[in-house]
Amino acid sequence: MSTDIENPVPSTPSASDQVNWFRNSSPYINAHRGRTFVVLLGGEVLDTPRLPTLVHDLALLNALGVKLVLVHGARPQISQRLEAAGLESRFEHHTRITDSNALEAVMAAVGALRLKLEGLFSMGLANSPMHNAAIQLISGNFVIAKPVGVRNGFDYQHTGEVRRIEVDAIRQQMDAGNVVLLSPLGSSPTGELFNLNAEDVASTAAIALGADKMIVLGDGIRVEDSEQRLLRELSPQEAGRLLGEERFTDSAVERQLTAAYHAASNGVARAHLLDASEDGALLKELFTRDGCGTMVTRETYETLRGARIDDVGGILELLEPLEQNGVLVRRSRELLENEIQRFVIIERDGMVIACAALYPFAADHTGELACVAVHPHYRNSERGLQMLRYLERRAREQGLKTLFVLTTHTAHWFREQGFDPAGVEALPEQRQQLYNWQRNSKVFVKRL
Ligand SMILES: CC(C)(COP(=O)(O)OP(=O)(O)OC[C@H]1O[C@@H](n2cnc3c(N)ncnc32)[C@H](O)[C@@H]1OP(=O)(O)O)[C@@H](O)C(=O)NCCC(=O)NCCS
Repeated sequence: MSTDIENPVPSTPSASDQVNWFRNSSPYINAHRGRTFVVLLGGEVLDTPRLPTLVHDLALLNALGVKLVLVHGARPQISQRLEAAGLESRFEHHTRITDSNALEAVMAAVGALRLKLEGLFSMGLANSPMHNAAIQLISGNFVIAKPVGVRNGFDYQHTGEVRRIEVDAIRQQMDAGNVVLLSPLGSSPTGELFNLNAEDVASTAAIALGADKMIVLGDGIRVEDSEQRLLRELSPQEAGRLLGEERFTDSAVERQLTAAYHAASNGVARAHLLDASEDGALLKELFTRDGCGTMVTRETYETLRGARIDDVGGILELLEPLEQNGVLVRRSRELLENEIQRFVIIERDGMVIACAALYPFAADHTGELACVAVHPHYRNSERGLQMLRYLERRAREQGLKTLFVLTTHTAHWFREQGFDPAGVEALPEQRQQLYNWQRNSKVFVKRL
């Protein structure tokens, strides 16, 4: 009998890993059901071998009750067609000038891409994830366009802008369980066709539909800070500032971030930018706690930031009622002033409405999460979660491997955020000595 020792099989997740993964996903499944997502697939993504897998993931979202509008780009395909015909692609300010030859190429490219996507959404082989899915992908004259016209002396000819989105017609299709496909081509009331910018179609549709999310999938999209670190979350103002710095050498990222900025500034709660070259990026972003892309979110008047000395008064006010009823251990003003750099706060219109602190125990590669509090008027909107994520990031940056928390009232909240129960012996030595046996707090630990 042969053994597998010489030729180990690559490890596949065990059944219990899969069960755990499924269980951990269920809050997200519930949260996304019945929501409207507008998903933009950049033209470059439609030519990659990953497209069928991506379509499977979209089909899964549809099966989980997400109302989907799919928008596709077609830039590279249009350029390829023009090149094959020996014609030049002409751009002004990153916008194609569409003459009548280019319009032919646009129509041919868009037609071919629509058919390609229809084909992929119809797949249903017995051994594929689409078996029994039977999804209808509906396209039509849902986007009404108007010409860009002549600007700075350039006549953009058949290049247009979105004038209106046929919201009711799209909603009817979504309510019937269909996925709606929008192309970067719109018709005008005069019966002409106009070549549109796919990012513009996606953000305008997301705003008009009051979508809960707009998700942009582009090949290699990465929005980074000046030290090449992925930016996970931006407010619309921060996104606007980044765009103003004009430091994106890749015009695709610039267009996509502009669309996210536009959507998030106009009522779309969250706009996500994801790198489609990462396998499963869409599902990771939607069904795991940390996601994998950049999110632009509209909390314009609320900021999450490190606390400063002049926040001490606000933090004390927030903590006092919780200290009085024994949820939190009392901290004096003096102590808070000394430890203020450990705190993060959420400020809303100048008021501290939430706080949390991280006390690192560097030698033990762990840190204590403490003073997690959200003002009662502002609970249940994931502010607690946002602060936790922020501090987890801070802890990782400091090289910590675990976080622990001591709690008497809030055990379940921490468990839901991935903390596991542990004994007092799991605490760093130094912290064990300070453990208050009378208070008898429960200890929870989370691996980072
Ligand atoms: C715990 C706390 C920080 C959460 O803040 P938040 O911004 O409301 O949290 P989120 O929106 O991320 O999570 C809300 C969810 O947690 C649940 N939750 C809140 N407090 C909880 C608790 N004590 N036990 C179990 N679940 C709790 C809510 O019911 C809600 O769940 P739901 O959406 O299924 O209804 C906030 O409730 C608070 O300030 N509590 C008092 C202070 C406290 O207990 N701090 C911990 C000290 S160790």
